[in-house]
Amino acid sequence: MSGIILPGADGALYPRNRDWHPPANTPGYKSTTFRAPKHALLSLGGTASELTGPTFGHSSLNPLDNDLIRNYSQDGSEAIGQRLIVYGQVLDENARPVPETLVEFWQANAGGRYRHRKEAYLAPLDPNFGGCGRAVTDENGFYSFRTVKPGAYPWPNGGNDWRPAHIHFSVFGHAFAQRLITQMYFEGDPMIWQCPIVGSIADKSAIDQLIARLDRHNTTPMDALAYRFDIVLRGRRSTMFENKLEGN
Ligand SMILES: [Fe+2]
Repeated sequence: MSGIILPGADGALYPRNRDWHPPANTPGYKSTTFRAPKHALLSLGGTASELTGPTFGHSSLNPLDNDLIRNYSQDGSEAIGQRLIVYGQVLDENARPVPETLVEFWQANAGGRYRHRKEAYLAPLDPNFGGCGRAVTDENGFYSFRTVKPGAYPWPNGGNDWRPAHIHFSVFGHAFAQRLITQMYFEGDPMIWQCPIVGSIADKSAIDQLIARLDRHNTTPMDALAYRFDIVLRGRRSTMFENKLEGN
């Protein structure tokens, strides 16, 4: 979020809390050492195109964009895996809903495999699962999508490290310069507490805000479990956004 400080509903500015977010260089997450800034940060002003656009509306989306079970189906059949509804509310620090913002999500398939040419895990691809989608929040700040539960996967961090089941999220805001990226985990997963990326976050309550809650009241009977993941922008209650690790 380059140089942008968003005002809250009361007009107050909330500066970034450096204690809430992990340091740019966290050696347990090895690649951070190579990409962390080695010099003092400079603050650069945003350009007009970065600060004023783009805007997204519901008409920008295709009907299946928020249905990862079907949006990349090759033959009309559905993706394999534990069927889920993931939903939540995007809020600002003052608990005010953030409407009309683009939320994007991407994830591994049920076996823990990404559809990506650099993917090295031997778990199989699902021909009917692409692994990405998007939604625009409604007037109350809510988004939702259908998907399958992603599998855990090993990653080359040295040793034998595995990522817990997770879904990557991007919240676009109202301009390119506001885009934020984070990850969602699943309530009760013991793998969360063994992950070096999660471990780069010092404050346990910040980690807790990245864990979606099982919501039995919003399941679809005989079809899908539901998880709720709310996202809070800037301020003391904010979700930990990973792209705040570098730069300002
Ligand atoms: Fe991932």
